[in-house]
Amino acid sequence: MRDAQPQAIYLQDYRQPDYWISSTELSFELYEEATLVTSTLMIEANGNLPASGSLRLDGQQLELVSVAIDGAAVAADAYQQDEESLTLSGLGSQHTLTIVTRIYPAQNTALEGLYRSGGMYCTQCEAEGFRRITYYLDRPDVMSVFTTHIIADGSLYPVMLSNGNCTSDITLDDGRRKVTWQDPHRKPAYLFALVAGDLLSKEDSFTTMNGREVKLKIFVEPQNIDKTDYALDALKRSMRWDEEVYGREYDLDIFMIVAVDDFNMGAMENKGLNIFNSSCVLANPATATDAAYQRIESIVAHEYFHNWSGNRVTCRDWFQLSLKEGFTVFRDAGFSADMNSATVKRIEDARILRTVQFAEDGGPMAHPVQPDSFIEISNFYTVTIYEKGAEVVGMIHKILGADGFRKGSDLYFERHDGQAVTIYDFVSAMEDANGVDLTRFKLWYKQAGTPVVSASAEYRADEQALYLTLRQQCPDTPGQTGKQPMWIPVQLGLIDSAGNDMTVNVSPAKDSQGLESWTASSQVLHFTEAEQTFVFSGLTEKPVLSLFRDFSAPVKVNFEQSEQELLFRLKHDSDGFNRWDAGQQLMLGWILQARKDEFELSTEAQTVLSELLADQSLDPAMVSYLLTLPSEAYVAEFVDEVDPHAIHLGRQRVRLAVAMALSEQFAACYQRLKSDAEYQPEPQQMAARALKNLALYYWSLASDAGLRQAVSQFSKTDNMTDQMAALMALANSGDDELAQQTLDAFYQQWKNDPLVVNQWLSVQSGSSEIGSLQRVQGLLEHEAFDWRNPNKIRSVLGAFANQALRHFHATDGSGYKLLADAIIRLNASNPQIASRLITPLTKWRRLVPALSALMQAELQRIADEPQLSRDVYEVVSKSLQ
Ligand code: TRP
Ligand code: ZN
Repeated sequence: MRDAQPQAIYLQDYRQPDYWISSTELSFELYEEATLVTSTLMIEANGNLPASGSLRLDGQQLELVSVAIDGAAVAADAYQQDEESLTLSGLGSQHTLTIVTRIYPAQNTALEGLYRSGGMYCTQCEAEGFRRITYYLDRPDVMSVFTTHIIADGSLYPVMLSNGNCTSDITLDDGRRKVTWQDPHRKPAYLFALVAGDLLSKEDSFTTMNGREVKLKIFVEPQNIDKTDYALDALKRSMRWDEEVYGREYDLDIFMIVAVDDFNMGAMENKGLNIFNSSCVLANPATATDAAYQRIESIVAHEYFHNWSGNRVTCRDWFQLSLKEGFTVFRDAGFSADMNSATVKRIEDARILRTVQFAEDGGPMAHPVQPDSFIEISNFYTVTIYEKGAEVVGMIHKILGADGFRKGSDLYFERHDGQAVTIYDFVSAMEDANGVDLTRFKLWYKQAGTPVVSASAEYRADEQALYLTLRQQCPDTPGQTGKQPMWIPVQLGLIDSAGNDMTVNVSPAKDSQGLESWTASSQVLHFTEAEQTFVFSGLTEKPVLSLFRDFSAPVKVNFEQSEQELLFRLKHDSDGFNRWDAGQQLMLGWILQARKDEFELSTEAQTVLSELLADQSLDPAMVSYLLTLPSEAYVAEFVDEVDPHAIHLGRQRVRLAVAMALSEQFAACYQRLKSDAEYQPEPQQMAARALKNLALYYWSLASDAGLRQAVSQFSKTDNMTDQMAALMALANSGDDELAQQTLDAFYQQWKNDPLVVNQWLSVQSGSSEIGSLQRVQGLLEHEAFDWRNPNKIRSVLGAFANQALRHFHATDGSGYKLLADAIIRLNASNPQIASRLITPLTKWRRLVPALSALMQAELQRIADEPQLSRDVYEVVSKSLQ
């Protein structure tokens, strides 16, 4: 909480610290009511700066017990202390500081620093949580070796963990246990971790490419020990993949993962001791869906990959956050693409970009991948930093090719191992390893907003040539106007009337950056000016254009294609991503049209869709995506003024039309893919289940036979993927009694498994069919709900506001009010979670006037609260500007 108005911090103000910390020794004495932290720091004046003799340490919510310099106690009038810092002055060039603080983990509901989750102690230090443990230079450019002692009652906390290797484990005279961990790698404080609890572990091992044996351990509360196998397997596959694809070997003798129930985010890459939200690591077939398995696989990989992209090479300051997050998301996407279907992974990523990220880029919180200012860094763990950042790295990969990119990443890791660096150091390594100049490309890091590319094509039969003119424009965003043209890689193909890719000859053959315009291996045009015309020659017939294959750039595209051309590409495009994209454009058009009129599927469309459904040569996972309608949130990004009720109506009509037109084909597809094989979380089975359950969804909308099949699948299956799919179909069937019966049965079956109960909560809260205000209010009072647990809050309030759009946007404003009340309540207990919940309210300017005014009023009500956290203050005040 604050007194004065929170101040922004600027990238341009970055300067090195006055002192470095060469070593850090921490001792934690854990008692039930409080924890005593003794920190011994070896400090050294920073020789790059004139000596100031003054050291300002960060600290928040700390009770200071004592300070000593070189063993001599410092009197209370010899240092300055305020709510956020402790300043020592008159210092020389080298000292040992000893600082003792007392903290109260059991009262820590913000889940930053050291806190309790269930019966255990755990930490979350990124970004600025370490300062809630002790006074420190809590900034990522200060890297230190850490030794950690944990002293506690060994019967209550048999497991005591920290980073690195365990070097001693003794019983003290008073019977308490003292465990010591040493981390040989220098690291910033945000990578520190401590865990103590009554945990069980599952063990495995991994032999690295140089033959070193690494012990792998996953720690969980005893009831979850049967849910660790998949994460362990995913971990081993990640370790192998990073060796093979990036040449990166693990660097400690042990790698640990701990699952905790109360966690603000997905997981955290603490050195050698990753801490995971239990929802992102625990799974068994009966309780976890295929989607959950895939999420676990990618998050385990993500956190493991951070060991190099984040830990060995870290960020100079938090403006460089995307240096580690964008690159690591790019790396985990590559891993998931290799483990499963690359096309499907690309589709999923593009979907997130086009809904969540484009919305952020077009709203009041828009910021560049390298922001130039922030008030609260926790608000910048965004889709722009993560997902757009990954797309920007992906474009460098497209420009350099796989080999060039690998040369660049090798140079980056070698040059900067052990350093805290900037995004431009990463780009420089890519440039230097390949002899290219990426100056123009770097605008992707500095300019916020989603570029809009307009394309027009003209075929000249007499010249046998196609003239393609591209124009780009990037809209203004808060604080940024008059943007420059970006370097946009346009991967494309030309398709002949038989559906085959044509040979491409393009002029100019080289672009203004000296790169070849289109080669058989890259298939990329370098579009770098505000407007450019490319001429494709030697075309004996008019081609169908396939632009931005593989989602080659995170841009919006204006390019009119007829329903016929879109159907043709949905059927023939050799690029799987663009097949899906053609289908989405088509269905988007249908939904927009159906907002006003009844909708009927054309015979041509019906034919193409049923052919896809029956085509057994295709990956069933891809087919299920081809036949999935754009979500309401996706549609909202393509209209100027959002009327959620009209979008809902249009989508319902199209959904029913597709279901009715293809009802028999869906039934047949379901029967064909139904299987008695034992459940395995592996790609082929998952793909078959995805299509089978999509077929069930449409079939149950179209007929009673489908509904009966859903009822039977619900009770007969032994895996959560099929049970959840049946539950969703039944809960949204429009038959209220059947919906409620099924939901009640599900709760009775699973009420002792919190992760399954969370899914039960979100099926209801996130449903445009049944997620009414009354139901959501009821869930907030349900025995299964807990205001202190972020997963529960996300499952009810997050699902409601982001998915049950019809109810959230209730015309009396009651949905907005419910959310605003929750934000005000959480502002005091958990500011990070409160702040993330505001996102749906930041979109008020894009709504139809009546809803817009109601939403704005709720934002204003939050803004008028007397004691806003920095987190909530920043988002609310920027949204109202
Ligand atoms: N670095 C984490 C990641 O892998 C993000 C993270 C985890 C985080 N917990 C957090 C960020 C708490 C802020 C606050 O992406
Ligand atoms: Zn990360």
